[in-house]
Amino acid sequence: MMDNGLAAYIEVKGFQKIVIFTDENLLSLYPHFFDFIDNSKKEFIVLPRGEAAKTLAVYENVCMQLLEKNIGRKALIINWGGGSISDFGGFVASTYKRGCTMVNVPTTLLAMIDAAIGGKNALNVGGVKNAAGTFYLPDMVVTEPSFLKTLPQNEILNGFGELLKYALISNGELWEELKNSESVSAKGIRKEWIDFCQNYKESIVKRDFYDNGERHLLNFGHTVGHALESLFAPALSHGHAVALGCVIAAYISYNKNFISKKVFQEIHDFVRKHYSFLSLNDEQIDAILRLCRNDKKNDGGSLKFILLSKIGEAFETDVSEVELRAALGNVFG
Ligand SMILES: NC(=O)c1ccc[n+]([C@@H]2O[C@H](COP(=O)([O-])OP(=O)(O)OC[C@H]3O[C@@H](n4cnc5c(N)ncnc54)[C@H](O)[C@@H]3O)[C@@H](O)[C@H]2O)c1
Repeated sequence: MMDNGLAAYIEVKGFQKIVIFTDENLLSLYPHFFDFIDNSKKEFIVLPRGEAAKTLAVYENVCMQLLEKNIGRKALIINWGGGSISDFGGFVASTYKRGCTMVNVPTTLLAMIDAAIGGKNALNVGGVKNAAGTFYLPDMVVTEPSFLKTLPQNEILNGFGELLKYALISNGELWEELKNSESVSAKGIRKEWIDFCQNYKESIVKRDFYDNGERHLLNFGHTVGHALESLFAPALSHGHAVALGCVIAAYISYNKNFISKKVFQEIHDFVRKHYSFLSLNDEQIDAILRLCRNDKKNDGGSLKFILLSKIGEAFETDVSEVELRAALGNVFG
């Protein structure tokens, strides 16, 4: 691991207590990662793996542990893991004793380029994803791409769907690089790509922290992506669903004459090469339309979509159900 500045940050800030949220998996893969922090100062709190951490029951249990360990609001909370850990830990950090300083140390590609950036934290309630959440920024995000070496291939592909999204909405050069890569692997993920996505997201978040306008652009591929994810959970990962959602959004962009057929075809072929494709029947298309109608970005009845005006540039607009149905039928029919 490189010197990532975390030791110096802790030293300068003078934290007396440091609570590290993580899971068994990270602890067994990287048992010495936090050896630089004195044992008398640090407390590990081990959470259930993945989405299972993001519940009110785990939240209450963890708050009880913090109270028993006498953790005050001047402690530092470190969220060490994937997006589930940063979503959960961010929620705790923003609410425990009305807020503690937190640092994110993301270990999945998805968390490095997306979940650990931008200050959205959440728990699931009654099976509804991210039903309770806060906006609360980490003081620092520590990025160690070498964590990706141990990440399973399906988790690499999960993050890669978001990487594809960033390339299409904001960076034609990144898209060219992705397009020309033969395969998706941890080794092939370049640090510059991660830096670019983080900087791009941070710049948008700075201008629209509470997600009232420009931040919507980050939802490219997500309107249909979320619907597919709900319909095919748990078989379809978030990033896989987003990659398929990008193809639909690209198709609508082409159908409305914003991008050429050639550009749509390139996006389609790229996603088809790296992800398994879907074949949808009429009932499934109806279900997707229903789910899109309920998407959080839609108000007043119209379907809000992020489309491409060209590679590297996106905008928000209304899309009719007829247009969406045609896209789903043509791409996945
Ligand atoms: N807040 C946001 O802006 C935002 C954005 C996107 C996603 N999310 C949330 O992120 C969560 C998904 O996060 P995720 O995709 O990072 O996965 P995850 O946090 O659910 O972790 C998936 C698995 O990967 C393992 N893992 C983590 N790092 C590893 C490593 N380096 N090597 C080997 N295994 C490792 C974990 O132990 C876990 O079993 C969802 O709950 C989603 O809602 C939040």
